[in-house]
Amino acid sequence: MLAPALPLEDYALLEDAECEARIEAAKRELGRRCVILGHHYQRDEVFRHADLTGDSLKLSREAARSDAEYIVFCGVHFMAEVADILSRPEQIAILPDLAAGCSMADMANLAAVERGWRELSGIIDPDASVTPVTYINSAADLKAFCGRHGGIVCTSSNAQKILEWSFARRQKVLFFPDQHLGRNTGHRMGIPLDEMVTWDFTRPMGGLSEAEIRKARIILWKGFCSVHQMFRPEHVDRFLEKHPETRVIVHPECAFDVCEKAHDIGSTESILKTVRAAEPGTRWLVGTELNLVNRLAQEMKPRGVNVHFLSPTVCMCSTMFRTDPQHLAWVLENLVAGQVINRIRVPETDAIPARLTLDRMLAVA
Ligand code: 13P
Ligand code: SF4
Repeated sequence: MLAPALPLEDYALLEDAECEARIEAAKRELGRRCVILGHHYQRDEVFRHADLTGDSLKLSREAARSDAEYIVFCGVHFMAEVADILSRPEQIAILPDLAAGCSMADMANLAAVERGWRELSGIIDPDASVTPVTYINSAADLKAFCGRHGGIVCTSSNAQKILEWSFARRQKVLFFPDQHLGRNTGHRMGIPLDEMVTWDFTRPMGGLSEAEIRKARIILWKGFCSVHQMFRPEHVDRFLEKHPETRVIVHPECAFDVCEKAHDIGSTESILKTVRAAEPGTRWLVGTELNLVNRLAQEMKPRGVNVHFLSPTVCMCSTMFRTDPQHLAWVLENLVAGQVINRIRVPETDAIPARLTLDRMLAVA
């Protein structure tokens, strides 16, 4: 018979250094049975234990091709859901702290999206003329909604290709939950701003008129990232006044007026690639989460590349930060003891249509 699960309370007061040694010991014990995936926003004490790191697209691919028995996802809830959906049925996806959600993903839920779809059908036939596109930062049931309505998933690194795919099928797109990724991508594709309307999900018909809906190419859900909304255009202006030679690079979850001031826009993985390829002596102002930027600044310093954080205030993703070495040690040592803690399991009714949309995305991008 299996021993009972090791309680979290026994880990809460452990020093990081002790956790570190225990995590490494558990990893050695589990060997190839376990893979740790780490998103770029994870804190250093966790990130250093990841076997594979990346942005949402890269980590989705890694989850799909992994043959490990356990996929421990150091990231947020929707990422572990994607790992569960894309992995084989006998593989187990684990999120070290179940409270690690994404506040942006929580801004759209199935009831509100279905209500919006019904309201749109009073004006147009959405199943004939609107492709629903969900950012990967969304719950599995919204990916399933897209699967049932001819839609697709996108990430920050493939949004343009996904919108092109969508417009090749239907005239309009309903894009949720992040208005900024949708607007920034649509703008780069040449869609006028007045043909991208914002759907306020707290109001009937999204607060839009019939004429606005008929004219719109993209209907943008009024969601946003609480971290990336902290970056302001005046932060860029002030920095460039002092250091006009600086290149500005931001994540597409930043607001439109910030992205307009940037030289480059890209996913976390593409920000890293771009700055790592920079010439010595160059200076970079980076608009994305603080853990990534601090690590990049440390890495590039010896190569003579200066990396600065775009905001004068600290902007960290508090939910990414929830995964600490204590939770990681807890789930790993339980696996060693034969106990699965914090399994993320998407019900088959959602997993099947959600997988369809994720497979579509991986095939398109
Ligand atoms: P990336 O896919 O670019 O890593 O973005 C994920 C995310 O949550 C950014 O806030
Ligand atoms: Fe969600 Fe924003 Fe955190 Fe990314 S940075 S996980 S979008 S809250």
